[in-house]
Amino acid sequence: LGYGVTIAGLRWRNPVTIGAGFFVPWVPGQTERDLPLDALGAITVKSVSLEPWAGNPPPRLYRSEHWTLNSIGIQNPGVDALVRDHLPGLRRYGVPVVGSLAAYTVRDFAELARRLEASGLVDALELNMSCPNTAREQMAFGQTPEAAGSLVGAVRAATRLPLFAKLTPDCADVPAVARACQEAGADALVLVNALPAMSLDPATGLPRTGTLTAGLSGPALKPLALRLVWQTYESVSVPIVGIGGIASAEDAMEFLLAGAAAVGVGTATIGDPEALRRIVAGLERLVAERGGDTAALTGLAHRIRARRSPGAAGGGDAAP
Ligand SMILES: Cc1cc2nc3c(=O)[nH]c(=O)nc-3n(C[C@H](O)[C@H](O)[C@H](O)COP(=O)(O)O)c2cc1C
Repeated sequence: LGYGVTIAGLRWRNPVTIGAGFFVPWVPGQTERDLPLDALGAITVKSVSLEPWAGNPPPRLYRSEHWTLNSIGIQNPGVDALVRDHLPGLRRYGVPVVGSLAAYTVRDFAELARRLEASGLVDALELNMSCPNTAREQMAFGQTPEAAGSLVGAVRAATRLPLFAKLTPDCADVPAVARACQEAGADALVLVNALPAMSLDPATGLPRTGTLTAGLSGPALKPLALRLVWQTYESVSVPIVGIGGIASAEDAMEFLLAGAAAVGVGTATIGDPEALRRIVAGLERLVAERGGDTAALTGLAHRIRARRSPGAAGGGDAAP
């Protein structure tokens, strides 16, 4: 009971984390000094790989009013540097630390899980399943239930830490992928990652980001993310962390009502790190106005809908 939530056995003092990629401890300006990490219910760290990754050519970010494209390419110094230089300081916040894993092979994901668990410095592992699976023609791990299930199963066998599967919205049937992850042992689902997209400069015909396609995030992603949380909530029993375009406490409340047990905030923190504190405090007021128990609000919109139109439970309204 209360504002805090329990996700995969971990107590979050409030239901808000920072999206993977926005607390980047090795980049000046995105460090714990510059972000109000003390406000969060859990700290999710930027994805790391086994070896250092150089990332993509610039420009890596293109911002328009309602959306952002990024092609960072998971630039990172590798898991060992993260463990040695950046994770130890996070313990003082006294909240769960979620390590995010990026790899091109199942084997590397499993090895990452082992190393992070051995560090004793993370409380849960999040699998960034938007990485292209090199063993399967570059399809992202999260694009089919089979690939997703075998990845989660392999990492499940490699670690006892709680496992969060972070899904891509770029697939035919997100709830089916989510179910496969749950069956393979995922303790929670994170919905959604950025959506592959692109933008061209009309004057030059050149892409606006260093890679032709880049990840769409920000407010334009929110209705899609919300729909996927809604549908997935009806397909799984594990908790869902909703992420995609959340920029206000009201946005976060929408995700709770649609089925999220907690939320992540990403793009809204770019240039406005205080967005985190604002959303945490504002959501606490909204939750208090509706009875004060976050967990009771999770998925409430489904129950409201079922009461108003018996027999209409489900995601099922067809498009016009
Ligand atoms: C600059 C940037 C970097 C990101 N880095 C990661 C990452 O390292 N790992 C990951 O799983 N997702 C990453 N994401 C995706 C976000 O965590 C999030 O799922 C997505 O941006 C949608 O949420 P938002 O609209 O609140 O940003 C990144 C997104 C952006 C814009």
